[in-house]
Amino acid sequence: MKIYNAKDYNDMSRKAANIISAQVIIKPDCVLGLATGSTPEGTYKQLVEWYEKGDLDFSKVRAVNLDEYKGLSKDNNQSYAYFMRKNLFDKVNIDLNNTYIPNGLEEDSKKECERYNNVIRALGGVDLQLLGIGGNGHIGFNEPGQAFEKETHCVELTQSTIDANARFFEDKELVPRYAYSMGIKSIMQAKSILLVASGKSKAEALYKAIYGEIVPSVPASILQLHNNVTIVADEDALSIIKEKGLL
Ligand code: F6R
Repeated sequence: MKIYNAKDYNDMSRKAANIISAQVIIKPDCVLGLATGSTPEGTYKQLVEWYEKGDLDFSKVRAVNLDEYKGLSKDNNQSYAYFMRKNLFDKVNIDLNNTYIPNGLEEDSKKECERYNNVIRALGGVDLQLLGIGGNGHIGFNEPGQAFEKETHCVELTQSTIDANARFFEDKELVPRYAYSMGIKSIMQAKSILLVASGKSKAEALYKAIYGEIVPSVPASILQLHNNVTIVADEDALSIIKEKGLL
């Protein structure tokens, strides 16, 4: 694992955007695995800036997102499909037909998960998977305790994730209880992984993910078994690792 220590959120975003840009430049038709949430927002903003300057071309890029809330349509402003359009897809020259995200409105979980697994396979797998990390160590919506061997599946969200995501909704009651998510197995099949983390609320999860035991109770700990993982984290997210003299 390569760990890059960023000064702050902006520095983390720039460093992460640099790694994604390098992937797009080296392989213009690459498959990017993308994440939503607060952490990558700055990374997407930076990519948009470089695109506007003429330094990046997304015309051949394929993008496959990690997850989507079950029950939300792609036009619901809390859906991850909406987030991706707002933060990246509508602002660069990516072809929307080359962007993929689970269909939150498909009620038949088995059918939707199979469809999504087939989408990822047909794309030939993910070249670079961007990940955030939950305060409880989740990646995608793979919550603590779930089997490592899963591909796309329907997840019942834990209370801590519902509480963390409530900040985006008018009312906590509106936070969906289920989501479709790529599983740990799907994530581990990516050729390379870039995990971004910012803030003290991620410090413990990041420490356990990198230096703790590899256990389902810390889903991100499985990344220790992947041979091409880059972590870009700011001072606060790295604070416990630094206190322990590990970096
Ligand atoms: C989002 C996702 C989640 C987030 C995680 C951190 O697509 O898969 O695992 O990466 O919940 O979220 P933020 O960045 O909002 O702290």
